[in-house]
Formats: sequence, C-alpha cells, structure tokens
Amino acid sequence: MSRTKIGVLISGGGTNLQAIIDNIQQGNINGEIGLIISNKNGAYGLERGKKSGIESMFINPLDHRDFQSYNDKLIEEFKKRDIELIVLAGYLKILSQDFVSEYKNRIINIHPSLIPSFCGKGYYGERVHQAVLDYGCKITGATVHFVDENADTGPIILQEVVKVYEDDTVDSLQKRVLEIEHKILVEAVRLYCDKKLRIEGRLVKTI
Ligand code: GRF
Repeated sequence: MSRTKIGVLISGGGTNLQAIIDNIQQGNINGEIGLIISNKNGAYGLERGKKSGIESMFINPLDHRDFQSYNDKLIEEFKKRDIELIVLAGYLKILSQDFVSEYKNRIINIHPSLIPSFCGKGYYGERVHQAVLDYGCKITGATVHFVDENADTGPIILQEVVKVYEDDTVDSLQKRVLEIEHKILVEAVRLYCDKKLRIEGRLVKTI
C-alpha cells in the first residue's frame, strides 16, 4: 500500500505534530508529511518540521486580502504537493467551506475535550480546561474527529477519557490531556493511512 502524503496545519508548539513525526520515523504510520504550514510566525512546530527535514512554512494571513483568499492559498500549496490527508495539529483558525469541501472526509482535528462537551466557538487551548474545571467535571478527555463545515461537529474517530482531580490546575490537566491527544491522534492517522476508517453518516467505523 502506498504511503499517504500528509499536510499538517499548526499554530503553536507542535507537540502533536512531533508525535506524528516520531511515529512515522518509527514505522508505525504508513505515511509521510509533505508540508507543514503555520499561520503564526515563529511557531515552534515549524522548527520541529525543519529539524526532521520536512518542508515547513509560515504563511501570513495578513498577506492575504481576506479569510477566503488565505484558505485558497493553503489549498494551492497542499495541492501542489499532492497532499491527501490534512491534519490540524493545534491549528487555531477555522477553515473555509471551500477548504473543507476540497478535502471532504480527509481532514482530521484533535480537540482537548470529550466532544460534544466544551467544544465549538471560543473553546480552544487553555479555555477548554478552565471551563472543565469551572464546571466541576470529574472526567474530561480528548477527541479526534473528521472536520466538517462547523466547529468541532464532524464525525468522531476516537476519544479517550482523562480523570479530573480535585487539586488539578489548568496546567496539570492540560498536561495529562495532551499525552492522550498524542496517543489518539497518532492512532487515528495510522488507521487513516492503513485505510481502516469508513465514514457512514456521522459514524466512523474501523474496518
Ligand atoms: C492541543 O491541546 C490541541 O488539542 C489544541 O492546541 C494544543 C496544541 O498543542 N487544539 P501542540 O501545538 O500540538 O503542542
């Protein structure tokens, strides 16, 4: 089976990206990363990519007249390199409808909560964990899902639970959730590249 060409979008430190890079290098994922794009200048994830010899670029949203043309530029760069699968690894921007249609059922996102809780507009980064703590939840977790037209509503691929402790802070909780994110994101990408995921409506089945 041929290796899946993966494109990764990031906005930050890129520990999820690193988990994918490591697992590709260890032979656990039948894929290769063809391009990493960040919307943030100086995102450490770009350094991680370069260190592994992967083409990695910052594309500045301010160089584009609007959201639509920025997304068109992303599509153009991914298409130029025949990217098949897009992974959002801590990408904090919304994608355009055109982007989502172009890569229908081929975009995977990681979210640091158990969707459908603490997701959607405004729930990103530390805000998610703060909201979980404020609500007094006893469990939280992480979700990997395919991306559809709305924020965090696409078909769920994998989820895993993380316990919330009474003395947890945003930092401690984020750290434990992040470990789970790495695990399930890698597993979802592995399954995708092995062609083991089938989408039926909003259900994802493993074959
Ligand atoms: C992760 O919590 C991810 O779920 C969220 O942003 C964080 C990014 O972490 N969307 P990293 O850049 O992969 O280290």
